[in-house]
Amino acid sequence: MERTLILVKPDGVKRNLVGEVLSRIETKGYTIVALKMMSADRELLVRHYAEHEGKPFFEPLVEFMASGPIVALIAEGNRVIEGFRKLAGATDPTVAEPGTIRGDLARDQGTKVVQNIVHGSDSVESATREISIFFPEL
Ligand code: RTP
Ligand code: MG
Repeated sequence: MERTLILVKPDGVKRNLVGEVLSRIETKGYTIVALKMMSADRELLVRHYAEHEGKPFFEPLVEFMASGPIVALIAEGNRVIEGFRKLAGATDPTVAEPGTIRGDLARDQGTKVVQNIVHGSDSVESATREISIFFPEL
């Protein structure tokens, strides 16, 4: 069974959207198999976002992700990686389709980095890597 790493980012937690996000994951039919609220420190975030190091939005992204508590979870199900990316919608919330998490719940806030409520792993390799970063105990 496939697994993916999902994060409710600080904007989602601040806006009390944790339940809404969890509900969409569960209503779709995926199973939440691990879940925790945590504060991600810089060291962990730099590892998580290693692919973006050197990009102009990297520092604002790390700063934003460290700006408040996040919720990290593992969801499980056939093709959950692809399925959750569809549920999340496009990276840019302005153009994310209505019906998606980002399309329904986020918009451009004029911030240095796009704030878009959730993260979802984009491949089996990313999911394995990211799960070991956020859930080293598993
Ligand atoms: P995520 O990794 O968070 O699930 O999002 P994603 O795959 O849709 O987007 P990705 O390209 O991996 O970018 C990671 C996060 O960085 C922020 N970002 N800002 N041009 C920008 O300002 C920009 N590009 C990316 C977003 O928060 C994005 O989710
Ligand atoms: Mg990504």
